[in-house]
Order: sequence, then C-alpha cells, then structure tokens
Amino acid sequence: MNNWTFFREALKNFRSTGAIARASPALVKRLINSIPSNVPLRVVELGPGEGCITRALLDKMSPDSRLTVFEINPAFVGRLRTIDDPRLVVEPVGAERLTEHFAKGSVDYVVSSLPLSMIEQSVKEEIIRQSQEILRPGGQFLQYQYALQDYGLLKDNFNSVSVSFTIANLPPAFVYSCSLGML
Ligand SMILES: C[S@@+](CC[C@H](N)C(=O)[O-])C[C@H]1O[C@@H](n2cnc3c(N)ncnc32)[C@H](O)[C@@H]1O
Repeated sequence: MNNWTFFREALKNFRSTGAIARASPALVKRLINSIPSNVPLRVVELGPGEGCITRALLDKMSPDSRLTVFEINPAFVGRLRTIDDPRLVVEPVGAERLTEHFAKGSVDYVVSSLPLSMIEQSVKEEIIRQSQEILRPGGQFLQYQYALQDYGLLKDNFNSVSVSFTIANLPPAFVYSCSLGML
C-alpha cells in the first residue's frame, strides 16, 4: 500500500484515520527510539494503519519479542495480515478492548498513532486508562500528535510525560513518551 492508497483510505474514513499521510520515516524513528533491540519485549501497537510503524518495530525487536496490533479499519487489517512474521498478531478490534487481551502489568511498550483528537472523550480516556493498566512498572506509552491537545490527559494518567517535536513529517508532529515512573 503506497501513500496514495493510504490517502484514499483516509478520505473514506477521515474521522477514524485522522491523517492524510502515513507517518514519515523520521517520525517513526523518533517515536520508537527508546525501545531496545537486545531484550525480549511484549509490545502493543494501537492504530497501525497499513503498517509503517509495525514494520519498523518488527525490524527493531529481538527474535523472541512479540508485537500485537489493534486496528479497526478492515482494509488496513487485510494489509497487516500480509506481513509474514511469527512475532506479529493482528487483532481486528478497537484499542478500547486492550484489557480483554492483556493482563495487568504484562506489556513493556504501547505505541500509539491513534488520532486521539478525533476520538470521543470517554473512549479516549478508556484507551489511555487501559494502556496504563496493561503496562508494567517502568513501561512506556508512546504517542504522536499534530498538536498538544491531549498533553493534559496524558499528564493526568502518567507520572512522567516528556514531549519532543519533529518537522520532518506532514504535518510536523509532537511525540509523547509517558511512563508510570517506576522501574
Ligand atoms: C493516523 S492513522 C495512523 C496510521 C499509521 N500507524 C501511521 O502512523 O501512519 C490512525 C489509525 O488508527 C486507526 N484507529 C482509529 N480508531 C481506532 C481504535 N479505536 N482502535 C484501533 N484503531 C483505531 C485508524 O483506522 C487508522 O488506521
């Protein structure tokens, strides 16, 4: 799936996609920069779309790591299912169902490119609450956003929230790194 196909899919489902182009390689690199390659990890991705972050995660993660992705758009789910990697599990359900799939404190990283600003407040709060619940102490919630609308929500749910910025994306984007602050 190329950028043009992503654009067409985004026009058909703008409220749930919330972007006109997929994340640039520079943004993807910044988003997953803190994830180590040399230890087995349990990683969850929310809103993978056609899989540009998914592929970068699989390239980076160790052979005994696991990646589970949650995506609601059937066209994107079909595309994700063509990725041939035994470490990848594709769940065709919403990110508000995380706690049905993972025990409390069982996940190392939650990587999200969900369009938070387009998601209903109560659903968004539930997704953040469940992400926080499944993360192990010392785990991280990583998210990008085009403006800082949800900084407050993340500050309310995590003990530590740091923000960086890249202009190398269309549009430029902020990256949040959130943790519970316990190692
Ligand atoms: C901005 S696109 C991100 C695509 C790709 N990961 C990227 O960064 O370019 C947001 C994605 O989130 C998905 N999405 C929206 N709401 C969702 C939800 N509640 N649960 C899971 N996926 C969702 C959309 O279908 C879309 O694929």
